Amino acid sequence: MKILFVAAEATPLVKVGGLADVIGSLPKALVEIGHDVRVIMPGYGIIDPANFTTSTVIGNLNIAVMGRTEQVSLKVTELGTKVRVYLVDSDDFRNSIEVYGKGDLERFLLFCRAVLDILSKLDWQPEIVHCHDWHTALIPLWLKKNNCHYASIFTIHNLAYQGFFDARFLIDADLEKDWQLRPTDMPDPPLNFMGQGILWADMVTTVSETYAKEILTPEYGAGLDHLLRYRQDKLFGIVNGLDYDEYNPAIDDFIPAKYDVCAVDKRIDNKRALQKRARFAGGVEVPLIGMVSRLDEQKGLDILTASFDILLQKTEAQMFILGRGREEYHNLLRQAASRYPEQLAVFIDFDDTLARLIYAGCDMFLMPSRFEPCGLGQLIAMRYGAVPVVHHTGGLADTVQDLTQDMSKGSGFVFQGYDSEAMLAAIQRAVNSYTKKAWQNVMRRIMALDFSWHASAKRYESIYRKALELKNS
Ligand code: GLC
Repeated sequence: MKILFVAAEATPLVKVGGLADVIGSLPKALVEIGHDVRVIMPGYGIIDPANFTTSTVIGNLNIAVMGRTEQVSLKVTELGTKVRVYLVDSDDFRNSIEVYGKGDLERFLLFCRAVLDILSKLDWQPEIVHCHDWHTALIPLWLKKNNCHYASIFTIHNLAYQGFFDARFLIDADLEKDWQLRPTDMPDPPLNFMGQGILWADMVTTVSETYAKEILTPEYGAGLDHLLRYRQDKLFGIVNGLDYDEYNPAIDDFIPAKYDVCAVDKRIDNKRALQKRARFAGGVEVPLIGMVSRLDEQKGLDILTASFDILLQKTEAQMFILGRGREEYHNLLRQAASRYPEQLAVFIDFDDTLARLIYAGCDMFLMPSRFEPCGLGQLIAMRYGAVPVVHHTGGLADTVQDLTQDMSKGSGFVFQGYDSEAMLAAIQRAVNSYTKKAWQNVMRRIMALDFSWHASAKRYESIYRKALELKNS
């Protein structure tokens, strides 16, 4: 099949979050099982031209947006992975220093319109247009409205980001007619981009089976649960895989000591390096909890920051936290780190090299997310032999099985209720288990689990087939 991925970010060109990892790796896995997959995304100015040479495919397109005309062109770059990436080049994207930020609504409106226009002019014609997250969500609507022959898939990576706007934007963006057009039984579309993808795509998917069920409820539906229930028979959860070439402790040049499942004892050198980085005095026998995360409520920062005093006074555990997010949490974390300098290290940063050292050096990896569509951290942690401690939600529930008491089965420490007490109890269990002999077996077991993309790519393949059948019926 010929499949076009449409998304706002993709590794290795630009990455803000897990979306980029998916767009950077799922197409490769689909190519491996015989499909022709290309990606189209904005040509941000921050994409380093030294690393990616581009050539122009289509020049000088005039796209009408917000009552003016924007000049757009289409470039292409070849990644060494047999996946071609098209870049939509416009002043707006070229001049922006951040992937997301001010002016997002206008920029992604332009992106969606440009993709539609480009599709009609491109010499390579896909059968499937696979759109990801709100930035691309108007495309399924316009494909339907224009009776295009492509089947559309819309994947929700995070329902919390919807591309909200107000009634004024609806008029200025000339979207009023689009919002009125719908079958009588269809729910009223809300004032955001995301809803349109859900309502109009031939198939809707999200990134784990549990999240696919959770978002049908008001608690997790972020105000869109009624739209999702309306599309329920076309909604599927497919868990994300991990790029096993990219994340492999046996060949990872960013970590001090490489290791594999047969030599997990070598991890200790990485742990030493991590403790040194944190300026912790304690020895390597002290349990070390790692965390790499966006620092906001979704990721459980509210229950975490409320728990430091109990956690660090009751246990001797050390903790290493890396991430960025809300200012409020930066401050709370910094304050806690200055209260417990021997036990808590906080790095407010995006730093892939340090992140890898954490995965390779910590004993436990904490993800207390309030909700988690899929989550990548727990998959990397397991691949690197760090035992995950997670809240039972979304993709965390689907990928981490609670360890039995004797640790002979399971892959991590899972807590059910979303509160400090439940999280602290799970951490305490992990810390108590750390000294047991079975810990080594758990490390080896989780490193040997298979979270590669192959199985999930097969599931996408069958969704694409269903979408095509539906389209042609
Ligand atoms: C979003 C979600 C995360 C998921 C990622 C990729 O960032 O929050 O759970 O893993 O998208 O699908």
